[in-house]
Amino acid sequence: MNIAPFDPERRIGTVTQVLPDSVFVNLDAVTQRTGRLLSGNSLRGGQVGDFVVLDCDSHALLARILEVKLPEKERLDIEQQLGHTPDPHPLAKLHLLGALQTGTDKVISGIPNYPALGASVFAASADLVSHFASSFSLKSEDGAKHVTLRLGHVRDGVGTPVEIRADHLFARHCAILGATGGGKSTTISRLLEQCLASHMFPKIILIDPTGEYAATATGHTSLFLGSTDVPSGETQVRIPCEHLQDGDYLCILAPSPTQRVRLNDAIHSLRLVEVLGRKGFESERAQLASYLTAEGVITKSGKTRSTFYSVRTAAAVADLVENPTTPFAFRYLTAQIMNECVADADNGTWRPFPNALEWSQPLLSKINALRVSAAWSPIFGNEGAASVFNEIEKFFNNGERLLRINLADLSFDFRLREIAVNLIGRWLREHVRDYKLKADRPVLVVLDEAHNFLNRHLGDEDFKQPLDAFEKIAKEGRKFWLNLVLATQQPRDIPPGILSQMGTLVVHRLINEADRKVVEMACGQLDAAAAKFLPSLAPGEAAIIGVDFPIPLTIQIEQPAQNLRPASAGPQFTRWLQPKAAATPKPAAPATVATSSPKPAKAPTPANPTAPPANDDDDIPF
Ligand SMILES: Nc1ncnc2c1ncn2[C@@H]1O[C@H](COP(=O)(O)OP(=O)(O)OP(=O)(O)O)[C@@H](O)[C@H]1O
Ligand SMILES: [Mg+2]
Repeated sequence: MNIAPFDPERRIGTVTQVLPDSVFVNLDAVTQRTGRLLSGNSLRGGQVGDFVVLDCDSHALLARILEVKLPEKERLDIEQQLGHTPDPHPLAKLHLLGALQTGTDKVISGIPNYPALGASVFAASADLVSHFASSFSLKSEDGAKHVTLRLGHVRDGVGTPVEIRADHLFARHCAILGATGGGKSTTISRLLEQCLASHMFPKIILIDPTGEYAATATGHTSLFLGSTDVPSGETQVRIPCEHLQDGDYLCILAPSPTQRVRLNDAIHSLRLVEVLGRKGFESERAQLASYLTAEGVITKSGKTRSTFYSVRTAAAVADLVENPTTPFAFRYLTAQIMNECVADADNGTWRPFPNALEWSQPLLSKINALRVSAAWSPIFGNEGAASVFNEIEKFFNNGERLLRINLADLSFDFRLREIAVNLIGRWLREHVRDYKLKADRPVLVVLDEAHNFLNRHLGDEDFKQPLDAFEKIAKEGRKFWLNLVLATQQPRDIPPGILSQMGTLVVHRLINEADRKVVEMACGQLDAAAAKFLPSLAPGEAAIIGVDFPIPLTIQIEQPAQNLRPASAGPQFTRWLQPKAAATPKPAAPATVATSSPKPAKAPTPANPTAPPANDDDDIPF
């Protein structure tokens, strides 16, 4: 590309003051007129937010206009008065972003040298901004070709495209941040569309908490982790409770200290039953044969303690029994807890301990409730459904590119969603470590609404367990080719440990100051000047920030194809605001909004949230 950054027709002003991070400019008065055209395209370059380029010897410096004002003495002269034509001398403050080596078109991060007083300032063309936005990402030291994704365009009215290298976006994890409606889900869909259309190889697991990505995943496998109403074409799955670890049970069941002892012992005993059934443990099984007479459990009352402990504490057995990943049969948990309600008798055996049974009653009731609860059925019920982990394993071994896990039906009660997502994260992390996924291909895990799942704990002061699987993936997943794309409304809710691991941030509109501060802190490239633009970004507009994008440029993300868009549009209120008279015209009715009936409108169905109510009689919902 041969770029001519200094087009005399685009000249807009002259440098008058230079500071380390900003430059002050006398703008030509004409720059303040809107609707100016150059070669048929609108010529911007004098308003806040516009990109400009400064002539600096062998470099062209890219800058952004932060502030435009009039000198104090001209402030009142700008008023339109009869017979008086204002002759303003506007001033602008610029924020320097980066440099282009003229002649070679090479983009350089940082400012190699500062402009001289009197240097000319030009409106940056869309091609130049696009070159800056793409160039860091496209640069290739080895000259190799890289997969690029067309994410969007420079906001210039003619759609000058911005292409970004896929590995720069994903290789060090990517966070998509922004207030509700900022465009995060649309950006995820766009990324998926572009990845799937490219020859890139990563396998993508999309965790869809709201079910909004059904269309995006058309033609790919969708797993449904829920109890009822499986959407057509989706496969119902469950998270088998064997994947819960001791700490998970302690948090979910919240036992009292005395109950906790029995719960721990019962889990260990059930694991022992499982281990004794394995090949290689025949002699241990024979030694404890008289303890194993009731199905699935260890009977302790009346049995000799020393024989039990000699088997239970042998190194090979203890290793497995105390390993939280060794499965056990949850359906026998209440029976085993009852068997643990024993005390030491004088003759070296165990004797019944009725008090312990009484103390354990609330715990037994909780476990029984879990087993029959519809909300918990994706973990403790749905026994006919396939294991989500078997399905993920299958996906790793087949040629498919995208696997969606739909959590829309998962209950919001009992922290079930957080627990389920953490279990999926934990399994993925352990899987990639053990199986060396690296030998095959990278995996991209996309988690939308991440603020609901990160920085969460289970349990109370007595026993607290962090749900930190994704935090661990953020810290160590990259080495195992497991990369994250997290989308969140509330960056301040993301643990700093996770945010600082994100190599690329795609930042949509962010209004909350605390959120903007968090983003500034997480990413050296976003300074206070650039952060000032975040509250005024339009839907779909985003600043791309990261180690491979040293200049925080904003681009307009393009929407994916119509049939792949997420079902995330808000209700179209105007479609409900039809005068009632329009449906059944009455001659005397004024053509205004009907206000009488308090009857609430039917809510739109989640599958088609923009649809107006089917019943014309429905009134305004609010
Ligand atoms: N790139 C875009 N171009 C044009 N319009 C967009 C773009 N992105 C989003 N929008 C508009 O904004 C609406 C909301 O977008 P989206 O659902 O992606 O926001 P979100 O940030 O995911 O919101 P939430 O946090 O509530 O999930 C879309 O329905 C669409 O109308
Ligand atoms: Mg969204």
